[in-house]
Amino acid sequence: MNILVTGGAGYIGSHTCVALLEAGHSVIVLDNLSNSNYEVINKIQHLSGKEITFYEMDVTDPLAVSRVFQRHELDGVIHFAGLKAVGESVENPLIYYKNNLVGTLVLAEACLKYHVGRFVFSSSATVYGDNQVPFVESMELLPTTNPYGETKAMSERMLLDISKANSDFAVTLLRYFNPVGAHESGIIGEAPDGMPNNLMPYITKVAKGKLKLLRIFGKDYPTVDGTGVRDYIHVLDLADGHVAAIEGLFKGVNIYNLGTGKGTSVLELLKAFEQANNHVIPYEIVERRPGDIALCYANASKAEQELGWKAKRDLISMCRDAWRFEKNLKD
Ligand code: NAD
Ligand code: UFG
Repeated sequence: MNILVTGGAGYIGSHTCVALLEAGHSVIVLDNLSNSNYEVINKIQHLSGKEITFYEMDVTDPLAVSRVFQRHELDGVIHFAGLKAVGESVENPLIYYKNNLVGTLVLAEACLKYHVGRFVFSSSATVYGDNQVPFVESMELLPTTNPYGETKAMSERMLLDISKANSDFAVTLLRYFNPVGAHESGIIGEAPDGMPNNLMPYITKVAKGKLKLLRIFGKDYPTVDGTGVRDYIHVLDLADGHVAAIEGLFKGVNIYNLGTGKGTSVLELLKAFEQANNHVIPYEIVERRPGDIALCYANASKAEQELGWKAKRDLISMCRDAWRFEKNLKD
């Protein structure tokens, strides 16, 4: 299939491009490089041994997007392009609503106009809010605590309505849990600009000596050891989930959790990292981070039953691969 991957130079997008190329698909990437760089495109080509077509453009620009749809006979779209920093979305909601909602609308409009019937959207477990774990696709969604989360919930809603009204426009909403790790080559991975917001990139920076110690946000949650519990999933498993989703039977609207189904606390992840990489990570316990929930993990059985996809990689591989990538990064 010819697949347009928006945000394909980013963290999850780049791993997915490699997986798509390895599965024999042709890949066209559209990215404005606002949170990535062109080098990643070369790396995707190097890792897969295949060429891709790259457009440096903004997904919110309808004319530019239209030109891509005219030039290529697309079979499907995987839409990763978006802004994702929770704290930044609270400070600057307008940019988040504009980028994330307009991007989704522009792409959906182009799909209808050019008869592209498969659309896979990057959603997030954040749309479940503080529901009872494990989160199941059929649950009623609860409000999220920030504009970023709202853009995911609203995009889901828009795509559902558009698909309902257009029987040829099939949509798969993928709700990711916590993606971590990197390609085994250590060549592509997650390289946040500045201070990392997320746990794994923070730990790897401490391991590298770039940050002094990890601050653990709260030890009084109703969890196994008082620290927050999340469902960490290897980015390579997540990438395979996208291949399964775009290749899967396509009709109407499909929603899948992409998680492992296992909850891991902050302290458990820290221990796994230390064990995998033989590194001691100093830490201190501080106040809870506003907006955090205690428990977040998936019921991952629907994706297994319907797509035949299941996460395979364990916590140790996630920690080992994240560290290998960090070590290779030039600072
Ligand atoms: P990322 O920032 O690494 O990748 C996003 C890519 O999109 C970047 O290359 C960026 O340059 C590009 N982009 C942003 N706005 C654009 C625009 N207007 N036009 C064109 N390109 C644009 O992020 P990621 O971690 O790979 O996340 C990919 C998607 O998955 C995002 O939609 C994100 O919200 C979602 N998601 C991520 C996580 C996570 O923890 N990483 C969790 C749940 C959902
Ligand atoms: N944490 C710390 N110290 C840190 C960073 C995080 O203790 O320096 C803790 C958090 O309190 C939380 C856990 O580690 O308990 C995971 O935090 P992350 O920031 O890595 O991830 P979140 O679960 O908060 O959020 C992530 C993405 C969101 C996405 C959500 C989906 O950042 O975009 O997963 O579940 F919506």
